[in-house]
Amino acid sequence: MSFKFNFGESEQETAMPKITTNGMFRECREHYYKEHSQRFDDFKDLVVGDIQLFYLNPLIASNRVEEKELKSLLESSDLKAGTYEGGFKIWECTFDLIEYLKEHEKCMLNKSVLDLGCGSGLLGIFAFFSGAKKICLQDYNSEVIEEFTFPSVQQSLAKCGDEAFLQFEFYSGDWDNMCVYFSELKKERFDIILSSETIYTVEYYPKLLRVLEEQLTPNGVAYFAAKTHYFGVGGGTLDFIQFIRNNSKFFATTITTNNDGVCREIIKVSRLS
Ligand SMILES: C[S@@+](CC[C@H](N)C(=O)[O-])C[C@H]1O[C@@H](n2cnc3c(N)ncnc32)[C@H](O)[C@@H]1O
Repeated sequence: MSFKFNFGESEQETAMPKITTNGMFRECREHYYKEHSQRFDDFKDLVVGDIQLFYLNPLIASNRVEEKELKSLLESSDLKAGTYEGGFKIWECTFDLIEYLKEHEKCMLNKSVLDLGCGSGLLGIFAFFSGAKKICLQDYNSEVIEEFTFPSVQQSLAKCGDEAFLQFEFYSGDWDNMCVYFSELKKERFDIILSSETIYTVEYYPKLLRVLEEQLTPNGVAYFAAKTHYFGVGGGTLDFIQFIRNNSKFFATTITTNNDGVCREIIKVSRLS
């Protein structure tokens, strides 16, 4: 594969709008796809019908991190709010949402799709194979995008030709800052938002609502796959549905429930007509 999106640093800097939201959270950054040298053996695969998706072994991905604070965090915890939000792992609700989308893949045909809090990017990669015309992958941590999402997309698209990469965009940063970046610079909205295991912290619900309000097209639909309760953290599907309903501009409802092991659900969110 020879195609690259290595734009110069200066072009990225001039493209950056002024971020106006809480400085404690990461600025939004657009990442330009860089080809990785990688070994096929470092990947795991997920077969969905006749589609084979690949993701880099999460341990190998996180071992590539050089930044000291994040490196030591990764050795001891799954996430730390405001520093590392858990992207170097495939969380189980990803598989629930892919399973659901497999039965409804036509809904992504020619649509623009945002994989919100993407980690590996498997949801976005699946959207690509289901005919989405544009796929944006966003994670809080830039290291996740560069060391986990990029290689997983590259390996999954290896047989698709270089043009396939043109359908992908990559972003890191806090959701508030992403909304500023998208609305000021990209004028970007999505027909479908896919999100797995992102509603674990009640404090983040206003940010997620902002994403829905500002980034979803008028007839757009968002799917959140999540655990019913996140013990020790506070969030969960009931709290999230209630929060969205209280806002009154959106309707949120559970469309699937899985009681096999930890109780999990998929929530569908759309604008009230
Ligand atoms: C538990 S991980 C789930 C990763 C992936 N979706 C999965 O299911 O395997 C939560 C994800 O939400 C994103 N996230 C959480 N809080 C965020 C915030 N305040 N701003 C932006 N992204 C955030 C992070 O990118 C992180 O990867």
